[in-house]
Amino acid sequence: MSQDPKRYTITAALPYTNGPVHIGHLAGVYVPADIYARFQRLQEKDVAFVCGSDEHGVPITLKAKKEGITPKQVVDKYHEIIKQSFSDFGITFDNYSRTSAKVHHDTASEFFTKLYNDGKFIEEVTEQLYDAEANQFLADRFVVGTCPKCGNEESYGDQCENCGTSHNATDLINPKSAITGAVPSLKKTKHWFLPLDLYEPWLKEWIVDGHKKDWKANVYGQCKSWIDDGLRPRAVTRDLDWGIPVPVDGADGKVLYVWFDAPIGYISATKEWAEQTGKDWEPYWKDEESKLLHFIGKDNIVFHCIIFPSMLKAEGNYILPTNVPANEFLNLEGNKISTSKNWAVWLHEYLEDFPNQQDVLRYVLTANAPETKDNDFTWSDFQARNNNELVAIFGNFINRVIVLTHKYYDGAVPEASSFSEVDTATLNELKAYPDVIASSIERYRFREAQTELMNVARLGNKYLADEEPWKTIKTDEERTKTVMYVALQIASALAVLSEPFLPFTSEKLKKMLGHSELTETLSWKTVSEKENFLPTGHTIGKGELLFSKIEDEQIQSQLDKLQASKKMNEAANKTVTPQKETCTFDDFTKLDMRVGTIIEAKKMPKAKKLLVLKVDTGIDIRTIVSGIAESFTAEEIIGKKVTVLVNLAPRALRGVDSEGMILMTEDADGKLVFVNPDTDGIDNGATIN
Ligand code: MF3
Ligand code: ZN
Repeated sequence: MSQDPKRYTITAALPYTNGPVHIGHLAGVYVPADIYARFQRLQEKDVAFVCGSDEHGVPITLKAKKEGITPKQVVDKYHEIIKQSFSDFGITFDNYSRTSAKVHHDTASEFFTKLYNDGKFIEEVTEQLYDAEANQFLADRFVVGTCPKCGNEESYGDQCENCGTSHNATDLINPKSAITGAVPSLKKTKHWFLPLDLYEPWLKEWIVDGHKKDWKANVYGQCKSWIDDGLRPRAVTRDLDWGIPVPVDGADGKVLYVWFDAPIGYISATKEWAEQTGKDWEPYWKDEESKLLHFIGKDNIVFHCIIFPSMLKAEGNYILPTNVPANEFLNLEGNKISTSKNWAVWLHEYLEDFPNQQDVLRYVLTANAPETKDNDFTWSDFQARNNNELVAIFGNFINRVIVLTHKYYDGAVPEASSFSEVDTATLNELKAYPDVIASSIERYRFREAQTELMNVARLGNKYLADEEPWKTIKTDEERTKTVMYVALQIASALAVLSEPFLPFTSEKLKKMLGHSELTETLSWKTVSEKENFLPTGHTIGKGELLFSKIEDEQIQSQLDKLQASKKMNEAANKTVTPQKETCTFDDFTKLDMRVGTIIEAKKMPKAKKLLVLKVDTGIDIRTIVSGIAESFTAEEIIGKKVTVLVNLAPRALRGVDSEGMILMTEDADGKLVFVNPDTDGIDNGATIN
């Protein structure tokens, strides 16, 4: 492909529709993809930026089972929530579709049928894991077991989240059903396999030899290691009832593997968009002059670099991705983000706590993006980046420019008389930024690109601090005009260049600077080519606050929220002794329990655990030997109200006859505690039932 592609087909991983989206999704996939798409549109490139909900697959079925609703209800609910979050955060998909859409079912079925008719699959009866109790085959996330590669004991049937390896469910060591916990048996079933081994030489040439230089090291490394390990045929169908039915005879009760249908979702989403806008979808997927890019997280690499390209290759008419800029993972306050543990910052919740502050999150997630390694999101870093960078650098510069322009010139851009060396140097430096930022974006280095954007604001701040128009206004009006003119050019450049990163801020800033009133719309190019893109005499609008300080209390309340999740998890993870066998009412009424008082206590000689008690049961005063000496001293329990099982058959302990038992429980640290429910004012001998 030539250096300058005719069009861009940009895809962002279709999120599983089993929960809302969180900061990890945004940082890893959607913000970088959006920066890239917005940037290319600003270069007036032809862009199709597509995504949609991934509505099939086991995660959805599991969620439905857990909540006692249908998979359809699950996806309908989360599709709306996810779609809303993306739109709230300014992710500018040209189309956000869903894999339950008819266009997708049709597209995926046709794709499968074409490969089937062309003889690209192996049809084979093999033994697969089966849960007899649930009456179901166990594929993918329905089965957990030990990863054959890294030993992680909680690997899924199709992929290990620890080492990223993708395997077949039958490869797992000690597999267990995720539905019933049962050890699965093997049962014969027919499936269709894509013989990845046949694509190995081609994949080697295409990726290992062809993309060593231009793909990210993490992506290239993973691909190379899979190819080096040797590829095996991969089943593309499943025995499940949720998904796209396998469109061939003799495949009742079988659906397409979710990782077969989902990436085809990119194609369906493009088709749907083309239909809505009167375009032709095919060039975006079939013309070699198009640049196809997949933005994904690292757990998706094998599917986007090996399996999907092999499918596209097998089909024969499709282009292959030019690049797959996958990110590593974002952690949260030192721990892995987890939906099930509620260890996450959910986008819809963020917006409730920080209304209209989407750009702050976009900014922090890009500044700290896990581009080359896993990174950590912390709330204190979030606060610092907002207060010390967005407020103190960007916001401060803009605020000074707007306020002074109104104060000195009623909002009109003044005329520059003669440029000093500093002015010329500053304007030249400014003109270089569009290319500098573009070059970083073109290499998928979004953190670097955003740092350069902030350098534009830094340039402005430094310029004002050095030239001090608030001082020269008293001594040299002409000089002040020139300085303010230059500062206004910088502000204007910021409005344009910030758009991919901080779209809401850019929009506000353009409004404040009156960009829509200009005869020539400002573009990325104008900033690098023209000296005077905000011309003398142009009137700017009113100032608005771009960023505001985030207070300690706001941060504390976010940390408290996470702390609460941690507590909930600890409580949920406690192992509780399983419930005993059912006892009948008659069994229960045989037990005679009474309120009593300990009136005497002594240590049993030579026994670490035993105390010899005298207990007033209301019936009599009797001796009870109790194993509580490690938790209590004799002295501290005299006078204590207790619950006594009085009709327990007497038995001798170390030669002392014990006539009953005191009811005890244990606290979290294993210390014994008396069971004496609120017995103040209750007489000894009162029965408990
Ligand atoms: N749903 C998958 C995930 O969240 C990603 C699917 S990407 C696609 O990991 F290519 F299959 F669409
Ligand atoms: Zn593993």
